[in-house]
Amino acid sequence: MDLSITHISFADFRSYERFDLDGIGPLTVLVGPNAVGKTNVVEGIQLLTAQSSFRHPPVDQLVRMGAPFARLVADASDGNRQLELELRIAEGRKRFLLNGKGRRTADLKGIVPSVTFTPDDLELAKGSMAVRRAALDALGSQLSANHYLIRRDYEKVLRHKNRLLKDEAPAALVEALDEALITCGAQLACYRAALFGKVAAAMAAYYAEIADGRERLRACYVPSWEAHDPAVAATFSFGRDDARAALASALSARAGEERARRRALVGPHADHIEFFINERNVTSFASQGQQRSVVLAFKLAEATLIQEILHQKPVLLLDDVMSELDAARRRALVAFIAGDIQTFITTANLDYFDADLLSAARVVELPLAEG
Ligand SMILES: Nc1ncnc2c1ncn2[C@@H]1O[C@H](COP(=O)(O)OP(=O)(O)OP(=O)(O)O)[C@@H](O)[C@H]1O
Ligand SMILES: [Mg+2]
Repeated sequence: MDLSITHISFADFRSYERFDLDGIGPLTVLVGPNAVGKTNVVEGIQLLTAQSSFRHPPVDQLVRMGAPFARLVADASDGNRQLELELRIAEGRKRFLLNGKGRRTADLKGIVPSVTFTPDDLELAKGSMAVRRAALDALGSQLSANHYLIRRDYEKVLRHKNRLLKDEAPAALVEALDEALITCGAQLACYRAALFGKVAAAMAAYYAEIADGRERLRACYVPSWEAHDPAVAATFSFGRDDARAALASALSARAGEERARRRALVGPHADHIEFFINERNVTSFASQGQQRSVVLAFKLAEATLIQEILHQKPVLLLDDVMSELDAARRRALVAFIAGDIQTFITTANLDYFDADLLSAARVVELPLAEG
C-alpha cells in the first residue's frame, strides 16, 4: 500500500500559531474565506513532501511574524510502516528530519512525493521557458535525488560563469569553467530529456482524454545547442556523449557572443520546452481553455509518472483550482482524484464541487474552531 498522510501539525508557520489536522483520509477539502490560510496549508504540506514551495519564498517568511522558529510535522503511514516528516525553520535555515533524525534534502526526495496545482501553474502554458524548465526539474528532483543534485551543481557552475562574464574576467578563466559546465550540463540535459520523453507521452494521452480526442498535443524539448524555431514541433534525441560534444562546440562557437553580452547563453538553462496543439504553438495560438487543458495534462502526467517510477502515489495538492477549470476539465480532474490518490483541495467556495466529490470528502472549515 502507498504511504499517505495521517496527521499534520504546524507551529508558528506562516499565519498559524498552531494548525493541527488529525485522522486525515483520502480526500480533504479546506474551505474558508480569503486570507484565512488555505494556501499556507498547501504550502506547508508541499514543503514537508517535496521539500520545496511553489511560492519560492525567502526562508524567513515561512516563520510566523514575531515568532523565533517554525516547526512542521506530517505523519505518514501505509498501514504498516509509520513515518514522521519534520521541517524546522530558524534563523533563515531549513532543516529536515525523518523520524526525528536530521536528513539532507536529497535523502528525502520521493519518500512521500507530491504534485501541487495552483492557479500560478497556468504560467506553464503561457509564461516563460524558465517556468517550464523549473517544473520539469522539480518533478525530476522528486523522482531522483541525482537529478536534484546535478541541477544544484549545474546552477552553481552557471552562477559562477555568469559572475565571471559580468566582471569581464579573462577568457581563459571562463574557458576553464566551461569544462565543468559541459560535464554538469550534459548530465542535466540527459536527465531532463529522458524524463521529458515520458512526460510528453503521458501528457499527450491525458490531453487526448480531456479534449475528447479532437486535438493532438505534442510536447518538445529543444536543447540550447540546437536552433530553436517556436513555430516547428521538432524532437531531438541525444545521449551523454552527444550532449557533451554538442555543448562543447556550441560553447566555443558562441564564446564571443557570451563575452559581448556578459552572460552565459549555452547550456540547459537556455533549453526550450514547447507545447503544440495540432502542430500550433500553444503560447501564441492556444485559447485560454486549451492552455488550461495543457497544464492539467502536465499535472496528471506528473502524478502518473511519480506513481509509475517510485511505486508510491503522490499526494495531490490542489490550491484553488476548481474555479479556474470549466466543467469538462473539472470532470477530468475529479475522475483522476477518484482513482484513489490522497488529495487536499482548497477553495473559498464549495459551489464548484459536485455532490459526489463532497460526499466522499472531509470538509474542513477554516478558521478551525478553537479547542
Ligand atoms: N510569516 C507570516 N506571518 C504571519 N502571517 C503570514 C505570514 N506569511 C503569510 N501570512 C499571512 O497569511 C495570510 C495568507 O494566507 P493564505 O495565502 O494561505 O490565504 P488563503 O486562504 O489561501 O487566501 P485566498 O483565498 O485569498 O487565496 C495572509 O493574510 C498573510 O499575511
Ligand atoms: Mg490561497
